[in-house]
Amino acid sequence: MDFKLSEEQLAVKEAARDFAQSVLKPGVIERDRTMTFPKDEIRQMGELGFLGMMTDPKYGGGGMDTISYVLAMEEISKVDSSASVVMSVNNSLVCWGIETFGTEEQKMKYLPKLTSGEWIGSFCLSEPEAGSDATSQRTVAIDKGDHYLISGTKNWITNGGTSSLHVVIAQTHPEKGHRGINAFLVETSWDGVEIGAKEDKLGIRASDTHTIMYNEVKVPKENRIGEDGFGFKFAMKVLSGGRIGIAAQALGIASGAYELAAAYSKERIAFGKPIIRHQGVGFKLADMVMNIEAAKMLVYRAAWLKDQGMNYDMAAAMAKLFASETAMKVTVEAVQVHGGYGFVKEYHVERLMRDAKITQIYEGTSEIQRIVLSRNIEKDNLYIPIS
Ligand code: CAA
Repeated sequence: MDFKLSEEQLAVKEAARDFAQSVLKPGVIERDRTMTFPKDEIRQMGELGFLGMMTDPKYGGGGMDTISYVLAMEEISKVDSSASVVMSVNNSLVCWGIETFGTEEQKMKYLPKLTSGEWIGSFCLSEPEAGSDATSQRTVAIDKGDHYLISGTKNWITNGGTSSLHVVIAQTHPEKGHRGINAFLVETSWDGVEIGAKEDKLGIRASDTHTIMYNEVKVPKENRIGEDGFGFKFAMKVLSGGRIGIAAQALGIASGAYELAAAYSKERIAFGKPIIRHQGVGFKLADMVMNIEAAKMLVYRAAWLKDQGMNYDMAAAMAKLFASETAMKVTVEAVQVHGGYGFVKEYHVERLMRDAKITQIYEGTSEIQRIVLSRNIEKDNLYIPIS
């Protein structure tokens, strides 16, 4: 793996950093307080190409590699994870899933709208009784010949109140277990799609998380993704890539908190010297930067493996697990370094600490990542090339 970023990759990182600092940062505290979705900011992200970064330009995407996407996710997450989760779901779970497994008609019909930000997508897998245990889908898709009728309830749906297209995972043949599950492209304007309650959350408060109900929604057969019964594998494959995006988000949150803590520790004087010169604070910063650099290597390597067309399931699970746990530890310490100031909203680190928590939960909890790793270990899938 080449650790030197190309000029193009560095330019993407800088563009994302400029956008985050100049457009997202000014209103981020207020949007978090009032749970206001960053509508105008997301529209601008679409115009700048952040919503379909890896998608082929023939479908309106940026045609970039996963490393560029990770760099942009990181910079935007340093400032605003409510915006970066929209970016992550749209890029990794929705656009990448359609581009990789969809038909040409599906790609032509939906990707240009999604990559431009005209539409935002949602990935609808979780249910009230099927979170980690994703095979226990209760949402049904009844085969009616030329169409399906989808009925059921989905929970914790990111972009739930704002998205125009849902990727819905539903059970078609219950007797076949996970092999009877399918994935469908469902337009939210169709009859029977009902947007339920918006969640009042601990973190990423400006992102739009809803319950969704499907009441006999008529979905044409051409909107199924892949062969009959491919839906669970589709969800697993898409989530594996999605985990690289969330790992980058966690890395960004940790880095954002570290940058604030390091700057503060050099300005704040206590007992006659900047607090960084007190070992209790200096050592915290040392541990923070070490863990962030270790997380960065895992995240970039997972992205690189994906770009090489190699298997990245274990690398993505490790990256998400380590980066999200690092984000939690680093943000708690960043609040501590700031003392009383860290406890108030104006200094940003308390929000980063609240935002960090979800990275240990969504797109597979830390415990699920350990399941993914231990099952691969059991199968002796340990070959992870380093070159
Ligand atoms: N790629 C391809 N196939 C895969 C796969 C992968 N990465 N992982 C599993 N599969 C296949 C298996 O091979 C198996 O197929 P066969 O029987 O044909 O061999 C099938 O899927 C079932 O696998 P398991 O028996 O291992 O299934 P399981 O029930 O034990 O669960 C699990 C596996 C890893 C725990 C899985 O359920 C899982 O990942 N759960 C977490 C779900 C999750 O991440 N939810 C996040 C919600 S989405 C979200 O958060 C988005 C958002 O809005 C931000």
